[in-house]
Amino acid sequence: MNVPEFQRAKQRGKKLTVLTAYDCLWASLLDEAGIDALLVGDSLGMVVQGKTTTMPVTLEQMIYHGEIVARSVKNALVIVDLPFMTYQVSSRQAVKNAGRILKETGCHAVKLEGGAQQSKTIERLAASDLPVMAHVGMRPQSVRKLGKMSAVQRDEDQLVADAVAAEQAGAFSVVLELIPATIAQKISETVSIPTIGIGAGPHCDGQVLVTPDMFGMTGFKPRFVKQFADLKSTIFDGTQKYIAEVQNGEFPAEKHSH
Ligand code: KIV
Repeated sequence: MNVPEFQRAKQRGKKLTVLTAYDCLWASLLDEAGIDALLVGDSLGMVVQGKTTTMPVTLEQMIYHGEIVARSVKNALVIVDLPFMTYQVSSRQAVKNAGRILKETGCHAVKLEGGAQQSKTIERLAASDLPVMAHVGMRPQSVRKLGKMSAVQRDEDQLVADAVAAEQAGAFSVVLELIPATIAQKISETVSIPTIGIGAGPHCDGQVLVTPDMFGMTGFKPRFVKQFADLKSTIFDGTQKYIAEVQNGEFPAEKHSH
């Protein structure tokens, strides 16, 4: 997978699959399972670091995790988030930091949050041959302004304008987060770049989920997250079995010993 191929999927009518990954174990497994793209999301601030928002995540942390993920995959497109305040100051700051991410991680593209308000920055990134994915709708880095992470965005004119502005500025794709399905459908029919939805209904050109959420590991269960497996119970039960077997002498058995 590469950026042009990711874009062509929309013309071919192939739904794109995207999941988040932050380490080698998960990146290699999801890649082997056939995922189209892995997003090293700044959601790592919450699901890996245990913080309440994505805002404290640093550029160095994204580069650290991005390099691990990019090195661990054979096929998937790897996109790394530009974290809070690493692109908002100026387009120059954005080019410098996105350049570091591509150069130091080996990933294919970066993602930033915003549409129309970031169009100048997207333009500068695209003109510097730094493929960029936009992110409109609910933007977690704007949680202080929005009030809460679960705020569904319903301003149709603004949302369509954001996605169109992102495309016109040169974004290769756009994430649509927490917007009504009808608006996501309108955007997907309006722009020619792939729309990747999260909580944006079935009409997007692809879907993304935060991997630990969809496997029931975080306890975060909003309406838009389907639980595809219950790894929390599997790991919890396995751990308790291990504790019991070590304590009662069942493990290690003779076959586990030299
Ligand atoms: O950081 C992230 O994981 C994201 C997805 C929710 C799209 O931006």
